[in-house]
Order: sequence, then C-alpha cells, then structure tokens
Amino acid sequence: MSRKLIRNGTVVTAAETRQADILIEGERIKEISAAIPVSAAEEIVDASRMLLLPGGIDVHTHLDMPFGGTTSSDDFETGTKAAAFGGTTTLIDFAIQPKGTRMRDALDTWWKKAENRASIDYGLHMIVTDLGEAGLDDMDEMVREGVASFKLFMAYPGVLMVDDATIFQALKRTAHNGALICLHAENGGIIDVIVKNAIAEGKTAPIYHALTRPVAAEAEAVHRAVAMSEISGAPVYIVHLSSEEALNEVREARDRGVPIFAETCPQYLLLSIDDLARPGFEGAKYVFTPPLREKRHPPKLWDGLKHDHLQVVSTDHCPFCFEDQKILGQNDFSKIPNGGPGVENRLQLLYHHGVNAGKLTLNRFVELVSTTPARLFGLYPRKGELAPGSDADIVVWDPEAGYEISAKTHHMRVDYSMFEGFRVKGNARTVFSRGEKIVDNGSFLGRTGRGAFLKRDARGGAWK
Ligand code: URP
Ligand code: ZN
Ligand code: ZN
Repeated sequence: MSRKLIRNGTVVTAAETRQADILIEGERIKEISAAIPVSAAEEIVDASRMLLLPGGIDVHTHLDMPFGGTTSSDDFETGTKAAAFGGTTTLIDFAIQPKGTRMRDALDTWWKKAENRASIDYGLHMIVTDLGEAGLDDMDEMVREGVASFKLFMAYPGVLMVDDATIFQALKRTAHNGALICLHAENGGIIDVIVKNAIAEGKTAPIYHALTRPVAAEAEAVHRAVAMSEISGAPVYIVHLSSEEALNEVREARDRGVPIFAETCPQYLLLSIDDLARPGFEGAKYVFTPPLREKRHPPKLWDGLKHDHLQVVSTDHCPFCFEDQKILGQNDFSKIPNGGPGVENRLQLLYHHGVNAGKLTLNRFVELVSTTPARLFGLYPRKGELAPGSDADIVVWDPEAGYEISAKTHHMRVDYSMFEGFRVKGNARTVFSRGEKIVDNGSFLGRTGRGAFLKRDARGGAWK
C-alpha cells in the first residue's frame, strides 16, 4: 500500500491543536505523531505554516434535484468537484420519495444519479413525503441500506409537506430503527395563505418571498418539532435554522434536556433580507427557504454556534442559474425556484468570518464543519476525525491564503455567487480524499466516479 507523509503541519481537531506529522497508508491514516521519519513514506507533502483539518462534511446538499419546475444545476459530478475545491470531502444529499411510491425506488434513482459521477464520498438522507401502507417498514429498510436519516417538511403544502401525524409516526419509528429525523421547520399552511394573498395584491417581486414567510412561522414549527421530540422520545435535527426566535426555541428545549439539534448555513450568518431587495430581479438570487432575515438575526446565530445551541454549519446547496431558472419567477416570486449555491465556500466563509473574526475557535470551527456532522449522521470516527484508522480525508489549509469569491472563478455549475466579491483569508491548498490527493493549488487531480456511497450507522450521536 502506498504511503504518504504530510510533514510540519499543525493538526487541528475538535479536541486539540498540535504540531504533528500525518502518515497515510492506502486510504487510511496510519499514524499521527511528532517527527515521523521521511523514510516511512514514498511521497512527502510539506505542510509548513499550514493547518491540517479533517475533511469538511456538508450534510445538506441538493444535487440534480427536481424542484420548482426545474432541476438544481449541479449534478453529482460538478457539485462534488466544487465541494472538493472548498475542502469538503463528504456530502450527504437528499433522495426524494415522490408521494405514493416506495423509498427503495427513490434510493435506486439517487444511486443512479451519483454512480460514476461523484469525486468525493457521499451519503443520502431520504425525504419522506408519504408513509402510506409500507412507509414505516420502508424506513427500516433504508436504515439497513445505510440511509440512517430522513427529512420531513413542515412547509411546501401540496408538494413536500407532511402532517404532524406523519412526522410523529416517523419519529416513533426511529426509536426502533435508530435513524435521525431532520425537519424543515416552517408552518407551511400559514405561509401558503400569506403568499396567495400577496400575489392577489400584485406583490410579485422577490422581496415578497421573505415578507410572506414570517419569523414566527419558523419559530412555531420549531416549537412543534420540540414537542413532538419530547412526546416521542426521539431526537430531532432542525435543518437550515435562520432566525433568533427559532434559535430560542432550540436553546430552551436543549436546556430542558430535549434531544434537539440544529444547523444553520453561511447565508443566514452573512446575508440579510436587504439582498432580496436588490434592484430589478437581482433579489431572486437570494430566494431560498427559510428566507434571509433582518440584520438583527445573524449575530444571534453566531452566538448560537459559539455556545453549542447550534451544532452544525451546512450549506443547503441547491443551485439554480439566474439566467434560465430563477427567471421562471420573474412575474411571481412564488415561482422562483427555491435554493442557492454554496457548497464550495462553506469552509472559507466560516473560517474567515468565524475564526479570523474571533467568533469561533479553530477547534470549534472543525467541530461545526466536520466532527459533529460525522457524529450526528453516523459517520464517526471513519469521517470527521484525524486519528489512526480514520479515512485519510485531510485538508491542508493555508490560513494566510487570500481569495475573492466570484462566479467567474468558482467551480459550481451556476452563473452567480451569493457571496460575489467577498474577500476571505484562509483556503484549502491541498485536499486528500481517502488518501488520494484530489485538489492541489487550485488544480483538480481527482477522478469523476471515485467517490463512494457511505453506508451510515444508525444510533449516531443524536441518540447518545
Ligand atoms: O430553498 C431551499 N432551501 N431549497 C432547498 C429545499 C429545502 O427546503 O431545503
Ligand atoms: Zn428545507
Ligand atoms: Zn435543503
């Protein structure tokens, strides 16, 4: 088996920071210690002045996903490659069970989408739209296949939304099969009425996407999710949390010992409702749900990340091109495909605005982007850790590298960036995925199709 030695770097994990070398043997980490002799390996990588991080894990992406009358513009080839450039070596994407169908069919469909295309490892969550007769047994089958988490929607009536009874039944089933239920927490019924009224009043511009989805509709749904977790005794993971009031619900529940976990995303930390009010149709670039909020919210979310009221930063990467996809809602904001791109920029943005700005320690940064996602979603310690035996998913991170985010240079297949012109300091220089150098100094060295499906364990960290 080939051996590679990464020398002179600073190893950063969720638990500690230390000077050490990393010896890779084949696909795994063999040893981490000070001054491993160069004779131990055939290939030497000098990491002087570099940080060595466990590969990023983005647990919330939508590649090649039919949604809003179109399909997200990155597929498993372009999306995983873009992720790799940004230091993310594992994704968990979402398969969708169309109403009235079996989850097995949806899983087969998504396996086909990913097969021979992914260049980093990936897992799948299953979006449940209908439990029908066999849905609960299907859930058990999915868990046996390594699909150990499910997403259910409290929003998008008539499309993805399920009722409380369905959510509650699914939650109770996880006590049996050890999966984790992820909830899109917004009160879809109320929002739908407000949206219809707005359209009827001729309020059709992108800004109305935010103005028709009140913070209280998110907080109420999180509150209901907490109650369902308490009654069922099963943990719940709230996806893409966007507001102070929703965060308060999570914090209060966690303080009471309810097993509630939540993620937020860079867009909610760094952008605001003002972006939806950009001139012309420009605001459509920022149409996703929950919507961007007033500027009072991001400081609260940063605080939540620091104090572990929020446990994960994912991207909710769901790109649609401005020119030919977002345009579908030119005359009606409710027809703008919901979603935004970001899988490539998560680590850069969180490092610059979190670590460099003094809001997060280095170790907390690693915990948020890699270690806790691995723990909660049944991948730890294979992923999310730098330790002997773990997969050699390693990011050689240059803390001094300056970089300007732009659609002109990014690798995501989308014609705009939500963070256009943002200047960051700190970027991935070299990326290893299972021991293979897949990105080096801005060049892609990986191979389309090398990424493997990850069978994830049930009863991950949320159950402990
Ligand atoms: O607007 C969004 N977030 N699009 C992706 C689907 C979802 O709700 O996560
Ligand atoms: Zn969602
Ligand atoms: Zn999403």
